[in-house]
Amino acid sequence: MPENVATTWALKHMPLTAQAVAELTPVLAGKRLAMCLHVEPKTAALVTLLVRAGVDVRLTGSPGTTQDDVADALAELGVAVFTRRSDGEAEHAENVRRVLDVEPDLTLDNGGDLTIELLNRGVPVNYLGGTEETTTGGLRLRETPRELGRPVVVINDSRLKLLVENEFGVGQSVVQGFLNATNLMVPGLRAAVLGYGPCGKGVADTLSRLGARVSVCDVDPMRALEAILNGHRVGAAAEVVANARLVFTATGHPGVLGAAELAALRDGAVLAGVGHFAWEIDRAALAAQTKNTVEYGEPSRRTGYVLNDGREIVLLDQGRMLNLTAANGNSIQAMDLGLTLQARSLGAVGAGGLAARVQPVPADVEHRMATDLVAALR
Ligand SMILES: NC(=O)c1ccc[n+]([C@@H]2O[C@H](COP(=O)([O-])OP(=O)(O)OC[C@H]3O[C@@H](n4cnc5c(N)ncnc54)[C@H](O)[C@@H]3O)[C@@H](O)[C@H]2O)c1
Repeated sequence: MPENVATTWALKHMPLTAQAVAELTPVLAGKRLAMCLHVEPKTAALVTLLVRAGVDVRLTGSPGTTQDDVADALAELGVAVFTRRSDGEAEHAENVRRVLDVEPDLTLDNGGDLTIELLNRGVPVNYLGGTEETTTGGLRLRETPRELGRPVVVINDSRLKLLVENEFGVGQSVVQGFLNATNLMVPGLRAAVLGYGPCGKGVADTLSRLGARVSVCDVDPMRALEAILNGHRVGAAAEVVANARLVFTATGHPGVLGAAELAALRDGAVLAGVGHFAWEIDRAALAAQTKNTVEYGEPSRRTGYVLNDGREIVLLDQGRMLNLTAANGNSIQAMDLGLTLQARSLGAVGAGGLAARVQPVPADVEHRMATDLVAALR
């Protein structure tokens, strides 16, 4: 089968995912899977394994993170792929609808888009349930008053995933994205991180280990305390961004860097997103104060907003997840774990026996995975 070389490389380093799909083939073979996940080599490795196991996969990605060459190689494998890197929100919504036209037996979702659309159009009788990659998608499903009537396993509720992928994986890959996008130096850099959940902690702690001087804002006092104990300066958002040359948002919430924080930024400050949606930096508030913009172009989209007061604020890749837009996403080992949790949770849904509700990764799956990972990394 033709493969993208980056996918072949990822496959070589994803033994846990390969083992899980091989074990689960009797449950998954012949199933129709509607899938929404960042279309990059590790996702392609999972899709390739699933296709080899006889799963009928339809795939879309998230706006701005698709690697078109990876999508093209999957299409050559016979996977129905509906995504391009240039897609905006409207095209993404259409892609989601086309993926669901298959009347899936299973869904693998990222941000709740597939599952919410499934609720809108009516759940097919053959639908067994699915998985959800993110906290954000899990919250959307838990908050909707409508009942899916099927199990959905939220992968991000796994302690193991939060540790390996969100903290250590995102920490490394976001800093890698910053380096790729800017070619600037980290030691001595004054950086601010909004949100000290696993993702923000990973970014703040990685920057700090590389010699940056890091300030953190988190509205949860337990998390703020943890940041202090890890050696970071802590304060309100407008306070911590005031001195920073680099600001990351990792809260999962909209508009956390709004007009008040923008007013506090220094000239030349660089802003970047870590959270799932590109809504944490209030771009409307930024545009309202902007006289003109300057595009600095490749290797990443670097947009300078020249404000009415003369300061220039640089936004990287429109606030989208920098590790996916400017780097190769999380490391292969971190995603081997995350995608194994996905495969084993899909297997548990496909086998039946899970309650028809939104739930965390089954405890036996998580325990097995931690044991395998320790053995793999020893
Ligand atoms: N870039 C990636 O590869 C990647 C990977 C996994 C998760 N994510 C996304 O990153 C985001 C964060 O994930 P997480 O697992 O750390 O989530 P989390 O919910 O555990 O942590 C978010 C933190 O932000 C804090 N917060 C909320 N509102 C705030 C505000 N206004 N000001 C300051 N702090 C605030 C919360 O108190 C919390 O501690 C989510 O959107 C998630 O989907 C991105």
